[in-house]
Amino acid sequence: MLLDKLKRPIRDLRISVTDRCNFRCGYCMPKDKYGRDHQFLKRKELLTFEEIEQVARVFVELGVVKIRLTGGEPLVRKDLESLIQRLKQIDGLQDLSLTTNASLLSAKRATTLREAGINRINISLDALDAKTFGQLNGVGYPVEDVLSGVKNACQAGFDQVKVNMVVQAGRNESSILPMLEYFIGKDVVLRFIEYMDVGNTNDWQNEDVFKAQQIKSLIETRYPIEALDANYRGEVARRWKLSGLPMEFGIISSVSEPFCGECSRARLSAIGEVYTCLFAGSGVDLRGLLRASDSDVSLFESIQHLWSVRADRYSELRSHQSPARQKVEMSYIGG
Ligand code: GTP
Ligand code: 5AD
Ligand code: SF4
Ligand code: SF4
Repeated sequence: MLLDKLKRPIRDLRISVTDRCNFRCGYCMPKDKYGRDHQFLKRKELLTFEEIEQVARVFVELGVVKIRLTGGEPLVRKDLESLIQRLKQIDGLQDLSLTTNASLLSAKRATTLREAGINRINISLDALDAKTFGQLNGVGYPVEDVLSGVKNACQAGFDQVKVNMVVQAGRNESSILPMLEYFIGKDVVLRFIEYMDVGNTNDWQNEDVFKAQQIKSLIETRYPIEALDANYRGEVARRWKLSGLPMEFGIISSVSEPFCGECSRARLSAIGEVYTCLFAGSGVDLRGLLRASDSDVSLFESIQHLWSVRADRYSELRSHQSPARQKVEMSYIGG
């Protein structure tokens, strides 16, 4: 089995299919830094679907069992369903999922995504009231449209639908209980995510984090809760349920209680670089290799090597790092 320097296997590949998004969430693509003149990747730079499939097959040979499609916003990439159909056919792949802001998730789109082969879907939603949500998404996008997207996902027959809420202190912690209450009985797993210092554009400060313990205590002021076991080793969320109510939720505590020890995730950028940590400064370019030869041998050896020398554990070392260190942006490699 392929293990990194800290004895962690490679299990999970997150593929960014575009760096573009129609939202401007302040923690990811703040609008003053992603304005009209921002240079997004050019279409011809992007890996083609054939190339993504080729890389994904090699990752699966090396041990990956789960693939998640991300962005930017993955649904803005044209004809995404044809990539999904290709990936679905890879022998050994057990799980193919998607993370989206749901703005383009019509009932029809949800069905075509499921039919193409997506089995689980995660939707980002940071507040329920129109004003807060419009401010947080940076473009005044209406919350009802995202809620329709969630409903469409629930009706399309995916194995699981999750909603991700990034909690920023002083901005949306007052939405925690309304969100929890809204999703009771709706067959959605709601996850509260600590705001992280990904990239350099969001001007993250420690004080902006509403910590896992605060989230849990706030919920306990109104509801008794019970811990649930992890679904799998290395799951990023601690799982909970509201006692006696049909409502599971999770808390992702990447800042206050890091989980690098179990991290088995690699990330592939839209132009074919591999990042072995969400907080990495640079990735290893595979596109050159892909385009130089028809054989997978060098690709295989390159991925094997980059994983075998991996020692990343940024979240555990956060307090010892310089804030000036260059880090890749979340919109570039996905969540
Ligand atoms: P499943 O358990 O398969 O549903 O996937 P997931 O929970 O990893 O998926 P999702 O993309 O919804 O992840 C939720 C959030 O957790 C991400 O947006 C990140 O904020 C955070 N996260 C996921 N993976 C990592 C990681 O490797 N490191 C850190 N620090 N945060 C992560
Ligand atoms: N901190 C925590 N989560 C983030 N996401 C994007 N940027 C950040 C950040 N700085 C989350 C989004 C989405 C997923 C793709 O990543 O809300 O759920
Ligand atoms: Fe777009 Fe998602 Fe980033 Fe928000 S968090 S700007 S929806 S990619
Ligand atoms: Fe993995 Fe890096 Fe996140 Fe730690 S900080 S869990 S090593 S992606």
